[in-house]
Amino acid sequence: MQIIRSKNELKTALAELRSEQQRVTLVPTMGALHAGHISLIEYAKPRTDIVVCSIFVNPTQFNDPKDLEKYPRPIADDIALLEAAACDILFLPSVEEMYPENEAPWHIDLGDLDRIWEGEHRPGHFQGVTQIVYKLFNLVEPDQACFGQKDFQQVMVIQRMIEIKQLPITLLICPIIRDAHGLALSSRNARLSDAGRVQALVLSKALAHIQSHFLTEPVDKLLAEARAILASEEAIELEYLAICETSSLKAISEPEHGKSYVAILAAWLAGVRLIDNMLMPVK
Ligand code: PAJ
Repeated sequence: MQIIRSKNELKTALAELRSEQQRVTLVPTMGALHAGHISLIEYAKPRTDIVVCSIFVNPTQFNDPKDLEKYPRPIADDIALLEAAACDILFLPSVEEMYPENEAPWHIDLGDLDRIWEGEHRPGHFQGVTQIVYKLFNLVEPDQACFGQKDFQQVMVIQRMIEIKQLPITLLICPIIRDAHGLALSSRNARLSDAGRVQALVLSKALAHIQSHFLTEPVDKLLAEARAILASEEAIELEYLAICETSSLKAISEPEHGKSYVAILAAWLAGVRLIDNMLMPVK
């Protein structure tokens, strides 16, 4: 695996590969890699010639400077995992490399996607995400980019940005990797105690309940039942739970035939904020 830290070096390496008709797939990450991240590399491998993974802890998407400071950066472990997954290029820029001084302020109109769910609870987050992903897209000019369904709203935000900016990039949405008990993998799980990991299982249980009864029960009943499952675990503090149309993420009260829906939630557990989602079967 080639490790590249400068934009110019990356551009040169990619220009050469592209002149040989090699297709490039980008996997953007913030590092502290786990099996969920690595699954994106594995998803990309058979669908492309070259996999470029970026590791960059992007300051503009953090609401809390302490969170940014505390974000884990186990770079030697990350490199070993990417080597083992046969990633071709690791792009590992510094903050100065990605954010030169006197840069023009960034804003993209994401409509309601910026204001609802994660947008409401993490103001400015998706502006920061789109700012860095747009920079990475412009730099790498990938044919495809892999994002995890785990961050469902992020995927919809990136899809919207691709449309607005008319970028010739195909988004690959990769399935959520869960542990053996159903907990969606996240770097934040490391901050949960053993008991916390067990308590957190009600999140996927509640979503799985909605998923398995979606075709036969009304939305309000499903949500009440899922809330009861979540309430059975005292330590869980629910922030939001909704069944939404997939692309707008607007909450619905009654599904329509042929449309696709997703159940999404965010909850706090012992000071750790967790998100999860599941796609609904199509009526
Ligand atoms: P990060 O949180 O490092 O996640 C990188 C990618 O890994 C995202 O696309 C995320 O959805 C995916 N991912 C995380 N956990 C996963 C799981 N359990 N199963 C499948 N995929 C999973 O998301 C970001 O970084 C940043 O916002 C970024 C897009 C890199 C922009 O800075």
